Amino acid sequence: MTTVPVNPTHDTKLSVIPPLDPTLLVLRPDEIAFLKQQTGIESDEDIKQHVLRVQELAYAVFPYPCIHKFYFTSLKISHFPAYGHLLKMGQERNGALFLDLGCCFGNDARKLAVDGFPVSQILAVDFNAEFWELGNELFGTTTEKCGIRFIPGDAFSSTLLDTTATPVDASSLASIDSLTPLIGHLSAIHASSFFHLFFEDKQALLARRVAALVKREPGSIIFGSHVGAKRKGVFSAKLGEMFCHSPESWTQLWLAVGEEMGVTFDVRAHLASTSADGQVVDVEAQGMGFLEWEVWVV
Ligand SMILES: C[S@@+](CC[C@H](N)C(=O)[O-])C[C@H]1O[C@@H](n2cnc3c(N)ncnc32)[C@H](O)[C@@H]1O
Repeated sequence: MTTVPVNPTHDTKLSVIPPLDPTLLVLRPDEIAFLKQQTGIESDEDIKQHVLRVQELAYAVFPYPCIHKFYFTSLKISHFPAYGHLLKMGQERNGALFLDLGCCFGNDARKLAVDGFPVSQILAVDFNAEFWELGNELFGTTTEKCGIRFIPGDAFSSTLLDTTATPVDASSLASIDSLTPLIGHLSAIHASSFFHLFFEDKQALLARRVAALVKREPGSIIFGSHVGAKRKGVFSAKLGEMFCHSPESWTQLWLAVGEEMGVTFDVRAHLASTSADGQVVDVEAQGMGFLEWEVWVV
């Protein structure tokens, strides 16, 4: 019998580990082109075998449904409505810093760099450094060659982020080893398939910790997507029991966080039946869908 592993960094617990299924690997044209450009591998079949090999290694680190379904090959960040704004910010806002929180392989951060956001201003954080290393394997890079600053850490730990610390002048990403010096300095923060790993109280705490990092300048943005529901509550899913916000409760949470901080947020959230990377669910039948959201500093 397979033992279902428990990840101590989050509340959701896997109920089963489905066996890997290579037939689920369907790369979209932009994804296959990106992988070819990054790796130099030329044939579709060789790309496929390469992805399957790395997937097997990643599934052994932790069998997340997103690894099972190959979401680590997706370029979902580029399909969000805010992406154009993000690219423009990278060009026009001097020194604008971007964070991908819960980055896993770093596919979204890598896509952003390739599309022109200054790579020295991109930061990626994940509890599991093995996933980041497997991202290097998948995209044929080293951390030095890719240029994105990766910091391993638990989003809830004060080692990664001490929100009680006195804000300092932002240093260059190369010289920091935690998020603490970046309090109030991040122009854009992306967090996808991340908040839903935690129950309601931890999602609220996480929102406060993430909000502490955002730069209080109009146009700064926190955005992403994760599993949500028509009505907030606890649902049964592949990750076992999972707490899902509705667009309304998610909006209320962020408005309250903004009020506490003395910052006005414009929150946009909706429940989609198709995700930014093309997954489809029946929201009416399941009551759950993809909560896509943006929190803007106004
Ligand atoms: C489901 S994956 C999502 C990956 C990616 N953001 C995406 O959209 O496909 C969740 C990621 O969060 C990381 N993670 C889980 N708990 C964490 C924590 N407490 N702090 C930081 N990262 C964590 C996992 O290692 C994993 O890479």
